[in-house]
Amino acid sequence: MSYKILDGKKTSLSIQQEIAEEVNKIVEAGGKRPHLSAVLVGNDPASKAYVGHKVKACKVVGFESSIVERPSNITENELLQIVEELNNSEEVDGFIVQLPLPSHIDSQKVIEAVSPSKDVDGFHPENVGKMSLGLSTFKPATPAGVMTLLERHGVKTEGMHAVVIGRSDIVGNPMSALLRMNTEPGNCTVTQCHSRTVDLMSHTLQADLLITAIGKPHFVTADMVKEGVVIVDVGINRIDDPSRKSGSRLTGDVDFENVAPKCSWITPVPGGVGPMTIATLLENTLRAANDRS
Ligand code: GUN
Repeated sequence: MSYKILDGKKTSLSIQQEIAEEVNKIVEAGGKRPHLSAVLVGNDPASKAYVGHKVKACKVVGFESSIVERPSNITENELLQIVEELNNSEEVDGFIVQLPLPSHIDSQKVIEAVSPSKDVDGFHPENVGKMSLGLSTFKPATPAGVMTLLERHGVKTEGMHAVVIGRSDIVGNPMSALLRMNTEPGNCTVTQCHSRTVDLMSHTLQADLLITAIGKPHFVTADMVKEGVVIVDVGINRIDDPSRKSGSRLTGDVDFENVAPKCSWITPVPGGVGPMTIATLLENTLRAANDRS
C-alpha cells in the first residue's frame, strides 16, 4: 500500500499563519498581544527543549511570552506561589507548568492551583470534566492537536475502531475521550490499552486507527497492524545514532520504516504530532486572551 503522511509540520505552520493574522487584527484594533507564560522547573533537557519550542512559536505568531525558570529544589509552596502570581497577573493570558515536576512536588496539587480560565494545557479537573462532557473548554494540546491533524487531512474517522495505547492524563485518556465523541473527527469505537493489557497484539490488529503514546522506540512492529491502518505516533524517543553529529536522533513508538508500507496514513517523528501540540497550545492561548478581553 502506498501510504500518505499526516504532515504535522506543514499543518502547524498553516495554523500559526492563521493565528498570526488574527493577532495582527487584534493589535491593529488597539488590543493587547496574547501572552503565554511557561513555568520550567529543573534541568530536564527534553522539558527545556519543549518549552523552548513553545516560546519560539509565540514569537512567530506575535504573542508575548515569558519563562519562569526555577531550580529542581524549589519547594511546593514556592511553586504554588508562582502559580498564584500568574493566576493574578493582568499581563499573562494563559500559562503552563511544564511536566514532569520533581518527585517532592505534588503535581496534582499544582495543576489544581492553576486558574481554569488560564489553564491552556487543559489539565485542571474542571476543564477535564468539561471536555469529557463535550462542553466548550481548553482541550489538552496533544490529543486536540491529533484531532486537528486528522481533520485537516480529511481523514474520516466515523465508525472506525480506534485503539489508543497509553493511559496518561496528558495523552491516552483525553485522546480516548475525544475519539469517542459525536464529532468529526470522532465517532470512533475506542479500545484503550495500557501496560497491563493482556495480548496487546490482538487489539492492535483490530485497529483502523492506532494512536501510540508509549515512550518505547520502535515498539509497534509491522506484524502488529493490519493493512490500511491510520497510525498516529505520539511517541518522542531519543535513540543513539552514531551517524549524526549529535550522536542521537528522535524517533517514535512505531517502527516507521517497516510499518508505514501497511498504512493508509501515518505521522512521521519528528514532524507529526509534536508541532501540532504547539499549534494547539497557541490556539488555546489566543482563546484565553480573547475570553479575557
Ligand atoms: N509534558 C509533556 N507534555 C506536556 C504538555 O502538553 N504540557 C505540559 N505542561 N507538560 C508536558
